[in-house]
Amino acid sequence: MAEKSQAQRTAFGGGKVILLGEHGVVHGRPGLAAGIRRGVMATVEAGERHLLECEPWGLKVEPSPDREGGARGEATLAHAFAAVLDAYPDSPKAHVRAQIDLPGGAGLGCSAAIGVAVVGALDRLYAQVRSPEAVAEASMAWERVFHGNPSGIDNAVSAMGGVVVFRRGEEVRAVPLARSLWLVVGNSEQPSSTKDMVANVTALHTADAAWVDQRFDAMAALTERGEVACAQGDLALLGRCMAENQEILRDLELVTPRLDAMCRAAVSAGALGAKVTGAGGGGCMVALAEDEAAAEIIRQAIDRVAGSAFVAEVAPSMTAQ
Ligand code: MEV
Repeated sequence: MAEKSQAQRTAFGGGKVILLGEHGVVHGRPGLAAGIRRGVMATVEAGERHLLECEPWGLKVEPSPDREGGARGEATLAHAFAAVLDAYPDSPKAHVRAQIDLPGGAGLGCSAAIGVAVVGALDRLYAQVRSPEAVAEASMAWERVFHGNPSGIDNAVSAMGGVVVFRRGEEVRAVPLARSLWLVVGNSEQPSSTKDMVANVTALHTADAAWVDQRFDAMAALTERGEVACAQGDLALLGRCMAENQEILRDLELVTPRLDAMCRAAVSAGALGAKVTGAGGGGCMVALAEDEAAAEIIRQAIDRVAGSAFVAEVAPSMTAQ
């Protein structure tokens, strides 16, 4: 194999926030998501055996079809690594190092970002060229190991970046932005499992399909309005959609008191809208700010409730053309 430069051997998987429509996307409704610059950078080289190292977690795993054994996180990673390697049969051994700059289990798409970065890195080693959409699709084998029945929205936005509308079974649509979205992300530090939250909402749906469908349909309508708001630069409208989405997530029992307090603090500090993002039941919230200066004020207000909020700009240039 010819010697490759550093740039040829690295691939990025972005983190994400869901602006509108989480959980509805699992059940066939559309959702609006934004990629953020924080994520996972994977570097690959040929090795003597397949090996995946995850920094800063200090984990090193070899692929294993077995989900049991070892610490739970390690066994899941080993199984997910095996699942993506299955798509490259008889390929030379790969040593992948994933540098992770996202909290896990916090609703920012950490597992999808690792999957996208690992698939991207393997593609580079094996000289496979494909579109971001195809990388997202290939990384679903990884995501299924972590989340059982993922919709695919996290992988799609991780690979494509920018703002997208995602609906299961349809082509992902890149949403042009008329102006930057200044987002403030706050982490409640309350651990949450996407798999469990998806199962809880699905159980609510089984118990009362009409009541839950009504809420999923309302989120679908908000996603449509949110897409228009992004394209027109109507941040006030996008903020209102996020606020309405938050009330639906509350109905679905996904808003914890701490996340609620963080969202209220954001709105009191001038946010145009604030909501839980991702699976909920813990993890992160996201607030929309008018501009960079407003975002900093909101960040400080969220920090006073729960630490480590950060500002993420989603610029028009980040959306795929
Ligand atoms: C997780 O980021 C979003 C959920 O809708 C699950 C999924 O779409 O797979 C809760």
